[in-house]
Amino acid sequence: MPHKVNYEDYDYGDYYEYEDYDDYDYDVEDNGEAPTPASESKQETSKPRVWSCAICTYDNEEGMSVCDICGVLRTPLVNNNRKTAPFKFDVPSPDDLVSNGLHSSKTGSKGNFLDLKSSRVSSSVSEKNGSVNTRSSAKKSDIANVLMPKDKQDSVDERNSLKNEVRASSRISDSSSVVMAKDRLGTIDEGNCSNHGTVDDSISSSVDGTESSSHTGNLTSNMKNMSSTAKSGNSTNVSARKTNSHTQYKPEKWMLPDKKGDRMTQLNLAIVGHVDSGKSTLSGRLLFLLGRITQKQMHKYEKEAKLQGKGSFAYAWALDESAEERERGITMTVAVAYFDSKNYHVVVLDSPGHKDFVPNMISGATQSDAAILVIDASVGSFEVGMNTAKGLTREHAQLIRSFGVDQLIVAVNKMDAVQYSKDRFDSIKVQLGTFLRSCGFKDASLTWIPLSALENQNLVTAPDDGRLLSWYKGPCLLDAIDSLRPPPREFSKPLLMPICDVLKSQHGQVSACGKLEAGALRSGLKVLVLPSGEVGTVHSIERDSQSCSVARAGDNIAVSLQGIDVSRVMSGGVLCHPDFPVAIATHLELKVLVLDFAPPILIGSQLECHIHHAKEAARIVKITSLLDTKTGKVTKKSPRCLTAKQSAIVEVALQEPVCVEEFSNCRALGRAFLRSSGRTIAVGIVTRIIEDQQ
Ligand code: GTP
Ligand code: MG
Repeated sequence: MPHKVNYEDYDYGDYYEYEDYDDYDYDVEDNGEAPTPASESKQETSKPRVWSCAICTYDNEEGMSVCDICGVLRTPLVNNNRKTAPFKFDVPSPDDLVSNGLHSSKTGSKGNFLDLKSSRVSSSVSEKNGSVNTRSSAKKSDIANVLMPKDKQDSVDERNSLKNEVRASSRISDSSSVVMAKDRLGTIDEGNCSNHGTVDDSISSSVDGTESSSHTGNLTSNMKNMSSTAKSGNSTNVSARKTNSHTQYKPEKWMLPDKKGDRMTQLNLAIVGHVDSGKSTLSGRLLFLLGRITQKQMHKYEKEAKLQGKGSFAYAWALDESAEERERGITMTVAVAYFDSKNYHVVVLDSPGHKDFVPNMISGATQSDAAILVIDASVGSFEVGMNTAKGLTREHAQLIRSFGVDQLIVAVNKMDAVQYSKDRFDSIKVQLGTFLRSCGFKDASLTWIPLSALENQNLVTAPDDGRLLSWYKGPCLLDAIDSLRPPPREFSKPLLMPICDVLKSQHGQVSACGKLEAGALRSGLKVLVLPSGEVGTVHSIERDSQSCSVARAGDNIAVSLQGIDVSRVMSGGVLCHPDFPVAIATHLELKVLVLDFAPPILIGSQLECHIHHAKEAARIVKITSLLDTKTGKVTKKSPRCLTAKQSAIVEVALQEPVCVEEFSNCRALGRAFLRSSGRTIAVGIVTRIIEDQQ
């Protein structure tokens, strides 16, 4: 059955009629229980009531053909052998597939996943219950894992190559940094999100989406510890900001890139898509083909993966480093790696596709300039990914578009599983293309590449499999990456770096990690840390695991600071130019688009507001007007409630101040996401920062 929005927490009064939300034609599983596949039915007669999800281990009711929590199909594809003939491309609708209980392809992994049930029970419980601490302790174990004697048995070279070649753009020079770099993109602890659209002017407001399980977790502000300072610093900073408009800012010469190009343009590339579509395998294979993973290291992954009965995950292991990720066969935090193409220094942000880790995906992908949406072409899997209730394909695409990413490569992966069929590829292109256009992606900015990460077809060279070669004449994946437009960079604006994560060394050194959105940094420069309002000095900068003298807009870095109280640097904060502080506010006007399946939003609704890496408890204090989703014109003043798919101007009051800018001034700090009960229910932009009237 479809995952219906949990309306219990809301007092709808007379405003809500359930039927209004229930008549979407894509709401698929209303037709009744999905029949159990014949192959399963026998064995399940002896297993009453529940089946345990192979991915998240949630115990689903007998009648469910996909996991109620993570959307993974009940069993892996039974027959994914390309020698099986004849292959049919009579593609059922996503809904049919879900209700008919077709299987996903998890090549080579079927038995392995099922073998792991018992070891996953505890973590699945914590995920379902939304425990924040469990995940952070998982990360601790990741760190321990890397530093364990097991690793010490490896040669120093191996370890260095793993660290340097695969992971992370922002390591600090201590030994745990290899995991730190990954951690920094995976520290949003809890919750799920779904249903993203966008209210960015350039984006169509037609949205669609999914729903997800509830993970409210603790709504502890990242900045709580510094709130008092922030409040006191608030007025100073905001007023300072008023006296220093960006037009007064003159960048120094060193801040601007050398005209000849002192280094390659950095391209932050998010790898997104439904769980198990092959994102990590694709990333790992690319890194290997481009020499970022040595043959020796690859052998090691292959050997270890095989030993654990997960041979097909060898390439994914290059990205999925933690014991838990490897054991479960899923990515949990965003992994960062990099390679050089002809035109770009590419920073790969391999995102988790599992529903529980959407917030981690957001944290990483919000820094991206372009994205690869990985699609599993196998029969059943593509359809489940597209399913509005369980699939993550739509959600990831919508999120990416909401972050302002408009260049998308659609990597139609696992083409080997459909015998490189043109019909299948075309069918996927038609179905997904319609949806992507509705999200606001333009045809000219979409590149469709059929490939197989597992069989190395069409990744960095033209395919050599005759079945693909016979009909595909387009670019390979690497060429498509090279053909992306260079991302615009704010080199000549004052420094701005939203802090994604903070690393603290044992020696009391603190480093802020994130993407430099504007301006430049170098050692010795004074920076203002907000919202604490303290000024620190840049001690050193790391980019791609190596120290560098200058970092500029677009770079993904770790900045180590000195002369500052370590506790004053928090993720969700911002580094900026001392004379050009960003605003800090608790009262904002937003233009929002309410997503499909979202519960009604009322005055007084308690939500979670996400702005860049900050998340804060928020309350709707005013619904100013309802807008026409196409024209943006006001259609009604002061409506009493907002419902799914509506666009509106609202005012929110945040519990603690956040660093924010109006979207028209600064896109990076001007996008907002409203979430409730672990789901994203609205996306929007900040239209006004409202001064508090006290
Ligand atoms: P999450 O990060 O958990 O969302 O998964 P993912 O998208 O990173 O998928 P991953 O790379 O872990 O691969 C999942 C399974 O798909 C593994 O068993 C891979 O071997 C398999 N796989 C990946 N690429 C291909 C492919 O091109 N063909 C086939 N047949 N299987 C593939
Ligand atoms: Mg992965």
